[in-house]
Amino acid sequence: MTGGSILVRHAALIEHFHALTDSWPAAHLLVTEDGEIVAANIAAQKLSGLERDTCNGKKLSDFVSDRPDDLLQYLHVCARNRRPMPGAISWRQTGNGPHEYRCQGFVIEPHSSASSALVIIHCETKDVAGNKFIALNRKMEELKDAYNKLAAQAEDLKSEIARRMRMEEKQRALEKQMYHVQKLESLGIMAGGIAHDFNNMLMAVLGNADLALADLDPWSPVRPFIEEIEKVSRRAADLCRQMLAYSGRGNFVVKTVNLSDLLLDMAGMLEISVSKKAVLKFNCPENLPPIDSDPSQIRQIVMNLVINASEAIGNRSGVITVSTGAVECDRSYLAATFLDENLAEGLYTYLEVADTGHGMDGETKAKLFDPFFTTKFTGRGLGMSAVLGIVRGHKGGIKVYSEPGRGTTIKLLFPSVPDALPEDMHEGPAGDGKWQGQG
Ligand SMILES: Nc1ncnc2c1ncn2[C@@H]1O[C@H](COP(=O)(O)OP(=O)(O)O)[C@@H](O)[C@H]1O
Ligand SMILES: [Mg+2]
Repeated sequence: MTGGSILVRHAALIEHFHALTDSWPAAHLLVTEDGEIVAANIAAQKLSGLERDTCNGKKLSDFVSDRPDDLLQYLHVCARNRRPMPGAISWRQTGNGPHEYRCQGFVIEPHSSASSALVIIHCETKDVAGNKFIALNRKMEELKDAYNKLAAQAEDLKSEIARRMRMEEKQRALEKQMYHVQKLESLGIMAGGIAHDFNNMLMAVLGNADLALADLDPWSPVRPFIEEIEKVSRRAADLCRQMLAYSGRGNFVVKTVNLSDLLLDMAGMLEISVSKKAVLKFNCPENLPPIDSDPSQIRQIVMNLVINASEAIGNRSGVITVSTGAVECDRSYLAATFLDENLAEGLYTYLEVADTGHGMDGETKAKLFDPFFTTKFTGRGLGMSAVLGIVRGHKGGIKVYSEPGRGTTIKLLFPSVPDALPEDMHEGPAGDGKWQGQG
């Protein structure tokens, strides 16, 4: 064992040793059972010529005239006994020649697999017997107590630090969620405002293009130009629709919807929208608890998810599985959904789109719902933002499982309609709407 490491390990103990023993007239030494000096009080420094700052790690045998073997033997006896062990030490006093002092050795830290024992040796000032030892032993007990207390405090401190770190971690997670909600809100207000006005202007462009086409001679050379205007305006209107969905300002008419029926109705359209290499599978049970939602918005979500899945598969072959089901969600399950805004516990109907595509790394997953975030050459980055806006409008949650090279599963949870009658399992008449969008 090196003196340096002892110093580091026992810095607090050494402080205590000096605080207690420096004022005492008797020489006190803190030594390892191997005879290395850890600390010497002022009296011991005077006796031996040791210095406080440089004594650490020095050999006790260099300062005494006892035989080194005898000294070690004595220290081992001290280290193995719980009681103070009487002995004698002959100091090579500077100037005065060796002088024998009666002493007592007392183990203060027993030896362990990692380190040897620590022993305190205190020497008598005069060669007298009597009560003095008892008084000093009590002081040593005090020192040991102080050390134990210190060790306990260190434990307390450690658990306190761990507790604070856990709290800070929680706080950071909360702040991150708040930040997401705020971003969603402020971007939503902006996107919604622009998209709404823009959409109205586009309707005027489209309407006028339609009127112009109606009046035009079928062979007119300007017809292809106006048709192009119409086509591009429809694409722009589509973009506006995504932006409005993200902002939660889309037009919606709510009905009681059975997700399985809705998906199976869409099957044909989905088949032609996905890549030829992708196999589309449906796993949609009939007896599904219905949800309250706007079917056209749900179709928009399904389209966005399935197209993303198909694009993730790309030119390789792969499978896209669209599933529905119901799941009882407790707080801990809901807390792990994206944008958990204190969703209510209970029965949720889910819609899940899983693909065997290229998957996402952590960075992509973190930005998945950011408006205009895309990793695609042709992407616009509004698909998942619209999904988020719509799910949020339904008081639902989103779970994302994805790994690079392994594929992606996106699960959308919608609160099930409680106690719905079997007839309600299907879309109700249009007038049923419980809530209406402002558009
Ligand atoms: N199923 C998926 N598999 C892998 N990556 C996906 C998937 N869905 C979305 N992403 C990633 O999220 C990004 C954002 O998606 P989205 O908002 O739909 O925008 P876009 O499809 O226009 O890029 C995509 O560019 C892609 O990197
Ligand atoms: Mg997309």
